[in-house]
Amino acid sequence: MTDPLPFRPRTEDAPLIEPKAEAVLGPTGRPMPFLPEPGPVSEHGKARIISMCNQKGGVGKTTTTINLGASLAEYGRKVLLVDFDPQGSLSVGLGLNPHEMDLSIYNLLMERDVTFEDVVVPSGVPGMDLLPSNIDLSAAEVQLVHEVAREQTLQRVLAPAIDKYDVILIDCQPSLGLLTVNALTASDGVIVPLECEYFALRGVALLKTTIDKVQERLNPKLEIDGVLGTMFDGRTLHSREVMERLVHAWGDKVFHTVIRRTIKFSDSTVAGEPITSYASSSAGAESYRQLAREVLARVSTSESARG
Ligand SMILES: Nc1ncnc2c1ncn2[C@@H]1O[C@H](COP(=O)(O)OP(=O)(O)OP(=O)(O)O)[C@@H](O)[C@H]1O
Ligand SMILES: [Mg+2]
Repeated sequence: MTDPLPFRPRTEDAPLIEPKAEAVLGPTGRPMPFLPEPGPVSEHGKARIISMCNQKGGVGKTTTTINLGASLAEYGRKVLLVDFDPQGSLSVGLGLNPHEMDLSIYNLLMERDVTFEDVVVPSGVPGMDLLPSNIDLSAAEVQLVHEVAREQTLQRVLAPAIDKYDVILIDCQPSLGLLTVNALTASDGVIVPLECEYFALRGVALLKTTIDKVQERLNPKLEIDGVLGTMFDGRTLHSREVMERLVHAWGDKVFHTVIRRTIKFSDSTVAGEPITSYASSSAGAESYRQLAREVLARVSTSESARG
């Protein structure tokens, strides 16, 4: 009788030879596309503004802002990071002391005689600048309520930066309040970092509703640039199941790149620098470089589609 199995079971003397795969499946369960090294840019400007947004805390918004920014800067892009969280984690993560800031984004938002140039500081990464923040920003949320065009305040103060940078990344606070609405109103795109954990999927519907409302009422050009799985652990069925559900719900919006869980991210925060310089050849650094290539590939396709 012939063997009904289409393959030979693996034994010591008959090692399994994988049939040549048509395409390699990535961690999201879809074939991994080729993500080319981005070419250099000859001139800077017309920045794409992208908000890192999720009202759930601790999902990797700040980590993604720092490391995606640093990776884009490595690829020769001029990058501005905007710390839009009164916790100031982005500023601290880049080595700034929140108590020693002369001026922060709060002053830029609320005081008419303070200019962009007065507040912007180098981030320590070549090609990447920072608009820092500290606890003062929490007062802005209250004070802005009484302003004319309160949702457009960040958009107005970022206008002079657009011609100087290629990408502006805004690190939002974990809430859907007025600061986050300001960030979404100022943005061309949103990246939603999501922890690969079951409860992380709850609340995403509310975030989507907020993005849709801002798009309808305040900022028609706003698009979702992508949903990023973070703190992924490929060894657990749980992480893989969450990834499957994400792809089911968000389809092609889910980045092929996922960020695995590694202690190196906390270490690099303590060191006050991006993982791309703290542990340059680590898997975490490589993942963010890959994300940078994927973002650039997506954004250039959607821009050329718009004409
Ligand atoms: N891929 C990862 N693996 C392991 N730890 C991570 C990873 N990404 C981020 N972290 C750690 O998880 C914590 C939360 O990350 P992060 O501050 O980036 O989240 P956040 O969404 O900005 O939080 P918040 O909502 O409070 O602003 C930090 O201590 C960070 O170092
Ligand atoms: Mg944060």
